[in-house]
Amino acid sequence: MSRPELQAPPEIYYGDTEAKKYTNNTRVQQIQADMTYRALELLNLPPDEPAFLLDIGCGSGLSGEILDEEGYIWAGVDIAPSMLEIALEREVEGDLFLQDIGQGFGFRPGSFDGAISISVLQWLLNAETSHPTSSPPHRLMRFFTTLHSALRNPSRAVLQFYPTSDDQIQLITSIAQKAGFGGGLVVDYPNSKKARKVYLCLFVGGGGGAQVPKGLEGEEGMDEDEDEKVKFEKRRQRELRREKSGKRKEVKGRDWILKKKELYRRRGKEDVPRDSKYTGRKRKTIF
Ligand SMILES: C[S@@+](CC[C@H](N)C(=O)[O-])C[C@H]1O[C@@H](n2cnc3c(N)ncnc32)[C@H](O)[C@@H]1O
Repeated sequence: MSRPELQAPPEIYYGDTEAKKYTNNTRVQQIQADMTYRALELLNLPPDEPAFLLDIGCGSGLSGEILDEEGYIWAGVDIAPSMLEIALEREVEGDLFLQDIGQGFGFRPGSFDGAISISVLQWLLNAETSHPTSSPPHRLMRFFTTLHSALRNPSRAVLQFYPTSDDQIQLITSIAQKAGFGGGLVVDYPNSKKARKVYLCLFVGGGGGAQVPKGLEGEEGMDEDEDEKVKFEKRRQRELRREKSGKRKEVKGRDWILKKKELYRRRGKEDVPRDSKYTGRKRKTIF
């Protein structure tokens, strides 16, 4: 089966049926979550400071859910109404916009502290929208130029995508550069067929210092078992990093939970649990 972006324009491919299938697939959920955590790590935001992020091609909110969990405020854009509809149903916290990123963003300059994009950029290289207005290079140029302006200086954007050739990588990186970005490519597990992942790590005004981060390493010519080891190793490294940065998911307080329940009731949600004296109690520490 060929890659989705070769089959149909995105808003057609992600119609009602595919959008549901995609969102409910546990393997997809796991992969999107893993890549979102990695993108956040590459964003390298200062710990314990609030940040407003842009999720480019947010889809049904699988990546957005991780942003919620990690305590970020975010806005998401996507071209597929069916995907956004599911994101709304799933009550993600981010503000959602129906938009073709190939036409560029209209956000105020410097609006975002960072941007992520998971499994989207390859769509700009292939099937266009159902109303194509210009060629992939023109669409990429509009996308990168307006993204650069929407980000504050300094900051970063991390875009995971699936290139199928070096020419595609060359085209994307050269246009990003022309739009004013620094940075480069981070390739994780370059020698594993399954685990290999490509992240375009873009810097605005130096991206908050430092060089392009190194990709995660794996063994050459891995077989199935070794891919399993990579998965385990990735999870272990992620947990270690989260522990080190002190960014464990916080236990929500009583006030936060009551406010959220009130919001759901106002929105007409039916099965909101009643408030009780146990709502939002502190997690017990066991020594
Ligand atoms: C594989 S899904 C990823 C969704 C989301 N990032 C996640 O973590 O689940 C790719 C998404 O890119 C969106 N997309 C593709 N081309 C787009 C475009 N030109 N403008 C906006 N969104 C686009 C699709 O509609 C789809 O929701």
